Amino acid sequence: MNSLTSSLERTLTPDFYDYDHQPLSSAVCEGDFVHVFWSDDMKLACHRFWLKENAVGQGGIDLATRECILDPAELTDDIEVKSAVVDNDGDLIVEWGHDGQRSIYHSGWLRHVAENNHLPSSWLPEAQSWTTDSIGEVPRVEGSAALESDEAILALLNNLMVYGVCVLENSPTHEGYLLELAEHIGPVRDSNFGRIWDVRADINLAGDAATNTTANTGLRLGPHSDLPTREVPPGFQFLHCLINDADGGESTLTDGAALVEALERDYPEEFELLYTRHWIFFNRGPGIDHRWSAPIIDYLPGSDTPTIRAFYPVRAFPAMANEDVGRCYDALRLFHKMADQPEFELKFRLKAGDIMCFDNRRVLHGRDAFTGSGKRHLQGIYIDRDEIMSRGRALNRAARSNAS
Ligand SMILES: [Fe+2]
Repeated sequence: MNSLTSSLERTLTPDFYDYDHQPLSSAVCEGDFVHVFWSDDMKLACHRFWLKENAVGQGGIDLATRECILDPAELTDDIEVKSAVVDNDGDLIVEWGHDGQRSIYHSGWLRHVAENNHLPSSWLPEAQSWTTDSIGEVPRVEGSAALESDEAILALLNNLMVYGVCVLENSPTHEGYLLELAEHIGPVRDSNFGRIWDVRADINLAGDAATNTTANTGLRLGPHSDLPTREVPPGFQFLHCLINDADGGESTLTDGAALVEALERDYPEEFELLYTRHWIFFNRGPGIDHRWSAPIIDYLPGSDTPTIRAFYPVRAFPAMANEDVGRCYDALRLFHKMADQPEFELKFRLKAGDIMCFDNRRVLHGRDAFTGSGKRHLQGIYIDRDEIMSRGRALNRAARSNAS
């Protein structure tokens, strides 16, 4: 290995982040593992195949994409670590027995794995369930300069990760602004309602115009989550208020995570029914037929946050034994009554320029009925949880790096 190659490899890691050096104190080979140690007792066990997969530019990690290009079928038994030592910079040098190559592993990169900063939960604030008492009012972030400032976007995303809700206030009020905002976060999620959709209430006309959703009527909408008819409902929903001079129509938000905690604690039988018995959700419309069967409280694989499937306009059929149906309706009745209690439900009025952002799977949203005259026009988008978390991790990481 010449010095140029060595110097180049020392700067490369299996991703595009910069890592501070965290010099190793020692490395020990034992069976299939290389154990690396730091002077503060932190340690990490590295399997030989995992090390091979993460060898940058040596058949493991591709230099251009920083993705692993090694087909697991090529991980043969003769791939063995001949020696593992710590070099003068504190990085790990592995010499391979089968081909004599040497691979260098950045100590800072190894350390970030040892510290669990590679987990999906890393670089994101921890979720906190809330009641109206504990949160007081919906978190708000100044949004007038959100397109020019990563700071506003980061504050929004972190509130969404912690509380599942945030209002971006003083935003521009032109149609389509949500798509401009989303470009600073990630791709929107399309649906049969379109990439961006309108929620209009012209109370003078209510009932006259045909609509494909209860949202476009003057009726009350109890606490609910959108599109439970999908295998994975949209992760987040942004609702942008363009006009609101209608009488009534106050918005509501209820933390489903807190509701589930209270049900599990105080009403374990009802919780069990809501958690285990299935209903069939059904979006009906000309040319579309979305259906999914799932419980009201649905834990999707890999998620600690419950997905609440609670939109009665599209909950169509019980999918359970006949003897359970009555008890499940009782549990549903309890669930929806609790969701509408002042203890759990924030109620406030959206004003023009407010963008109400919320976790569509965790937080139930709703609105009061319209009581008089006037107009209300909102636009909405869905954006998946993956996009919120990805941008949140990247911005939190960048903010930490800028601060140090
Ligand atoms: Fe909705």
